[in-house]
Parts: sequence; structure tokens; C-alpha cells
Amino acid sequence: MKLSTFPLVVVVVSLALPAAAERHMMQPLVPADKLAEARALVSPLPGTSKIVEQGKALYHGKGGCFNCHGKDGDGDGPLAAQLKPTPRNFRHHGFWRHRTEGEIFWVIKKGSAGTGMVGFSELLTDEEIWSLIPYLRSFAGEQGPGMMGHGGGMGPMMGDGGGVGSMGDCKGEGCGQ
Ligand code: HEC
Repeated sequence: MKLSTFPLVVVVVSLALPAAAERHMMQPLVPADKLAEARALVSPLPGTSKIVEQGKALYHGKGGCFNCHGKDGDGDGPLAAQLKPTPRNFRHHGFWRHRTEGEIFWVIKKGSAGTGMVGFSELLTDEEIWSLIPYLRSFAGEQGPGMMGHGGGMGPMMGDGGGVGSMGDCKGEGCGQ
């Protein structure tokens, strides 16, 4: 038996991503050395419904986000099946608890290296990118300004499950699965 080829096989197999998997929401997409800088970015735009409308128009129009992230933001657009990792599902409440708006801005602008999520800095202005974020959050039912990143962090509506049903005691990381 030729033992020498064995370790190579193991390496190749462990590098492959599982088919059709969304990256775990706990894993930041911003590279570690840029994370602090990205997290500190704060939207200059007011949280008005006009801004949400602008973001919506970009999502379904010029930005073409729906092609991958889906018309309803569930990460299941027409191109999604071909992508590994698969696009983010914006309807997932837990996801928004693990990101600041600055991180989201950074990824839309610069992309997630080696994935279908390319940076949009050539196509969209900074202001257009910021305007997309409140619309993305609205997919998870999180309307209204200032719930993410602006000091408040977890807003009053997000709570901790409050003992409702099987969510019971879920308080920290890994909740909202
Ligand atoms: C060609 C397909 C494609 C298009 C078009 C696309 N995305 Fe993505 N997007 C992805 C994929 C794939 C990921 C997951 C990347 C990863 O897991 O590293 C992703 C991830 C994201 C994330 C998650 C960031 C995080 O921190 O987890 C955000 C936000 C996002 N996209 C916003 C957008 C917006 C806004 C647009 C339109 C301007 C857009 N995307 C267009 C494929 C796409």
C-alpha cells in the first residue's frame, strides 16, 4: 500500500466547502486586520423611509442584489444555487445581531474575497451603499433607525427570547438558530 499519497487526500477533502452552505453568521467576512476599522464606520444617512425606498430601488435595480440574495432577501435568488458559499439570508434575525452596520458597509463595498460577493465600489457610491443597509435589515422585520451599531446594539424589539416557547434561555452566541 502506498501510504505517501494518503495525507494529500486528507488535505484536499478538508479544504472543500460543504455543498450549498451559507457561511456561519458568527464568522465575520471582513478580514481580521480590517475588522476594528470596519466596525467603527457609522452611516451618515438619516433613518427615513425615503432612504429605505432608495435602498430598495438599488437592491432590485442597479445593484442587482436580488439575483443572488433573492427578491425577499432569503438568500435564494436565481444565481444562488451556483454559489459556494451561498449568499447571505437577510431574513435571519440572529445574523443582524452579529454585525455592525459598518461591517455590512465594508463587505458591500469591498466584497468577500474568493466568493460570489464582489465589491460594489465601482458601481455604487458610498451613499448608495449606506442606503441599502436599512432595506436589507427590513427583510428581518427590523425597521426603524439605530438598532444596529449605533450604541443601542440589540434594540428593545430584539430582546433575548424572553422565555417564549423553546427559545427559553437563549441569551448569548448561537441563539436565534
Ligand atoms: C453574484 C451574487 C451576489 C450578488 C449580485 C450580491 N451578493 Fe451579497 N453575497 C453573495 C454571497 C455568495 C455572499 C456570502 C459571502 C461569504 O459567505 O463569504 C454574500 C454576502 C453578502 C452580505 C453579508 C455580509 C456579512 O458580513 O456576512 C451582505 C450584507 C451582502 N452580501 C449584500 C449585498 C448587496 C447589498 C448586494 C447588491 C448591491 C449584493 N450583496 C449582491 C453573493 C452576491
